Amino acid sequence: MDTIILGIESSCDDTSAAVIKNGILLSNVVASQAVHEAYGGVVPELASRAHQQNIVPVVHEALKRAHVTKEQLSAIAFTRGPGLMGSLLVGVSFAKGFARALGIPMIDVNHLQAHVLAHFIKDTADDVAQPKLPFLCLLVSGGNSQIILVKSYNDMEVLGQTIDDAAGEAIDKCSKVMGLGYPGGPIIDRLARQGNPKAFTFSKPHIPGYDYSFSGLKTSFLYSLRDWLKDDPDFIEHHKEDLAASLEATIVDILMSKLHKVAKDLNIKEVAVAGGVSANTGLRNAFHDYAKRYNWNIYIPKFSYTTDNAAMIAITGYFKYLDKDFCTIDKPAYSRVGL
Ligand code: KG4
Repeated sequence: MDTIILGIESSCDDTSAAVIKNGILLSNVVASQAVHEAYGGVVPELASRAHQQNIVPVVHEALKRAHVTKEQLSAIAFTRGPGLMGSLLVGVSFAKGFARALGIPMIDVNHLQAHVLAHFIKDTADDVAQPKLPFLCLLVSGGNSQIILVKSYNDMEVLGQTIDDAAGEAIDKCSKVMGLGYPGGPIIDRLARQGNPKAFTFSKPHIPGYDYSFSGLKTSFLYSLRDWLKDDPDFIEHHKEDLAASLEATIVDILMSKLHKVAKDLNIKEVAVAGGVSANTGLRNAFHDYAKRYNWNIYIPKFSYTTDNAAMIAITGYFKYLDKDFCTIDKPAYSRVGL
């Protein structure tokens, strides 16, 4: 019998639903929320209201594109956390209600685990470019910067993580103070392609072990900018490409050097990247460069599976379904927690 999983994602500002049949993706619908652009960041109350408007049409569209009826579904997987509580509640409540009405199992999914398992999304049956276990995964998003040892689908160990800001958060904040817009990641990426990464130097952290820190870099960026603006009020306009390139290069270097340290210490050559920041061109180039230099086998997800999406929730749900790892209706959403 076919195993058909509907995945639902609503942890932040994207409402998404996806259908996976026997491990192969049939549809992945994402409704992003433009409403936050005017505020320079996600406004939680507006996000949950937009999820409420989007959830039914998005699920409907995902089923329609997959040519699957709700009666054919085997189970419903949903992001239970971590994320914004009001946003999560919409997806969690909808998923529980839908599963209960259909009389099928509900599967709770950890959003961070799902980002890592995005590497196992198959677009076709012969899609085989997947990391071999165990592998290292650099998870870099707006809220997380972690180095994860993936031992199996459901056994992951966080070896290092940021002790303050996440990489994406640092990029977004620096972009905001430059008045470039939100979210900063894609804007910085585009500008960086036209700038000189060696034009400016910003301070790098010296954190022992495998942990990261990005708040020092952010402060160094802000103070430098303040001094430069005193001499030239149009400094940002004149140098935005070089500023973006130098900032991006610093962040990429911080991320890659710690990742390399872990890979070397553990003697692991299977190395993957996941999360929204993995869309970054500089980081992708650095992965290719390290692969050549250190003989790594690298895994970079498709662009559409790097940012928040329900395909990664559905594939995680699929693995949990095979393990009969279901959840009960009383399990609440959670805003913070690790893997
Ligand atoms: O994983 P994600 O979609 O959301 C969560 O954090 O849950 O990641 C969003 C982050 C934002 O900080 C955004 O600026 C960053 O990913 N991002 C990028 C790029 N595209 C998205 N950062 C750098 N370069 C990009 N091309």
